[in-house]
Amino acid sequence: MIRLIDVVKEFDCKRKVRALDGINLSIDRGEMVALVGPSGSGKSTLLNLIGTLDRPTSGEIWLDGQNLSGLTDDELTRIRRDKIGFIFQFFNLLPSLTCVENVALPLHLRGWKKAQARARAEELLELVGLKHRLEHLPDELSGGERQRVAIARALSVYPPILLADEPTGNLDSKTGAEILDLIRDLHERLGATVLMVTHDAGVAASCERTITLRDGRLAGDEVRAARR
Ligand SMILES: Nc1ncnc2c1ncn2[C@@H]1O[C@H](COP(=O)(O)OP(=O)(O)O)[C@@H](O)[C@H]1O
Ligand SMILES: [Mg+2]
Repeated sequence: MIRLIDVVKEFDCKRKVRALDGINLSIDRGEMVALVGPSGSGKSTLLNLIGTLDRPTSGEIWLDGQNLSGLTDDELTRIRRDKIGFIFQFFNLLPSLTCVENVALPLHLRGWKKAQARARAEELLELVGLKHRLEHLPDELSGGERQRVAIARALSVYPPILLADEPTGNLDSKTGAEILDLIRDLHERLGATVLMVTHDAGVAASCERTITLRDGRLAGDEVRAARR
């Protein structure tokens, strides 16, 4: 379902940076994969490319049998909207919107009617255990609660692919473990393919597969029985 062929990504700064240096990778539907590696090894760059937020310098990325290379920006935007859910380290919630409004936003962007979008948003917030916080603003929530809202938003369109960039990086370890359980539970219940960047060896060990990047190259790809 996700396939990368010789993917290279360079950034043009004063000095050219090769963030990804020939990545070949396949991830099947329904896998839950941890992406690890030192800071600067290209993890976020890889996630952004798979998430169609950016394009590779060379090489091919295929999602669901479709080669992204030939697509226009509008077509990529549509794929992102329909297939991809993002969870970031810093939550990226809109501060002036309530929880339920934040979660409903991607649905409005997809043309859902207001009442339907709201009903789905409420359902998702209940799923992540925040039924009692619908009308709160992000500022009024704890870090763990904000990340739950961000997860509900990422899931609002039931995306087949969930991309998470250090989703527990800004949380204390207990809250981080809860968020991780939640992501795993949603992965199991909704069948989403999950690719998650993490610095935490315990988090990685709880995934069925761990991909390691070093200096923009694949340095490891290990499949195991997930430990929980
Ligand atoms: N937008 C950008 N412009 C220039 N260089 C970038 C950009 N994004 C990432 N890089 C560089 O690419 C390399 C990989 O970055 P990144 O993917 O963020 O690593 P990681 O997420 O593993 O810490 C780093 O050297 C970083 O400085
Ligand atoms: Mg990063």
